[in-house]
Amino acid sequence: MRIWAAAIAACLAALAVASLPPSAGAQSKPAAKKASAPAAKAAPAKVDYAQRFAAQCAACHGANGRSDMAGVPVLAGQPSLYAITQLFLFREGRRNNEAMTAVGKTLTDDDMRGFADHIGTLPPVPPPPAADVDAARMAKGKALAEQHKCVFCHGAALDGGQQVPRIGGQKEDYLRASLRGFKDGTRPAYTQAMVSAVSQVPVEDLDTLAYYASRFTPAAPAK
Ligand code: HEC
Ligand code: HEC
Repeated sequence: MRIWAAAIAACLAALAVASLPPSAGAQSKPAAKKASAPAAKAAPAKVDYAQRFAAQCAACHGANGRSDMAGVPVLAGQPSLYAITQLFLFREGRRNNEAMTAVGKTLTDDDMRGFADHIGTLPPVPPPPAADVDAARMAKGKALAEQHKCVFCHGAALDGGQQVPRIGGQKEDYLRASLRGFKDGTRPAYTQAMVSAVSQVPVEDLDTLAYYASRFTPAAPAK
């Protein structure tokens, strides 16, 4: 995963700077002017983490969490509780990925909360135009999602909630890898929910589910 090396390095450098006391980064600047300077720095946590997200996460996850980098999930539209749970799993080394484990290990509890809260505010990615999708494969995916009760936990709109992730609009390559990972045991889960959900589903059907969820468009109100 050499493509991530530069982005990991940039992220870690930015994290190191962010964790220094405010004055340390400003050594070369003229000594603090007045009481107004520190006051201006004490921005609300939300604004701070939006900036830090842009500096430390967006290189991989995209501006506003709309990743288009291979293997990197979209974060836009994810519930904050799901995000903080996964950050915790990365930090504790329970979920492993070369890129995210390196990032996760540097995060404090406040960082995890701040980033997760920010992620929870990012609006989801709009669905692709209907003309670009294979209608037959979408119909198969929809049937599978009902048959295997994916909608029961992830919601009819596939938007998740609380500790359950949004899967509608997630990147297909990432969904495919995650589903296969739950099935072969390489993606550890917080609960056994996903392991049992996919245990009876053939891999081809998991791939169809990934195709479907990544292109999902919430249904129009029933006629
Ligand atoms: C070097 C690239 C890179 C950087 C920088 C990065 N990430 Fe990630 N992130 C990834 C990859 C790759 C994954 C998917 C890991 C996997 O497949 O298990 C991921 C997964 C995640 C997930 C889990 C998403 C899900 O749907 O399960 C969260 C949350 C997350 N990252 C948050 C962050 C935050 C917050 C930052 C900034 C502090 C950040 N990431 C910086 C590459 C990166
Ligand atoms: C009993 C509830 C439940 C059912 C049924 C269920 N899921 Fe999940 N799913 C979860 C939970 C909870 C997670 C979070 C995983 C964890 O424990 O870390 C998850 C995670 C996922 C992820 C990872 C998303 C990410 O961003 O990394 C995908 C993809 C997914 N589910 C797809 C499906 C599909 C497709 C089905 C149907 C075959 C399904 N789920 C059925 C509860 C469920």
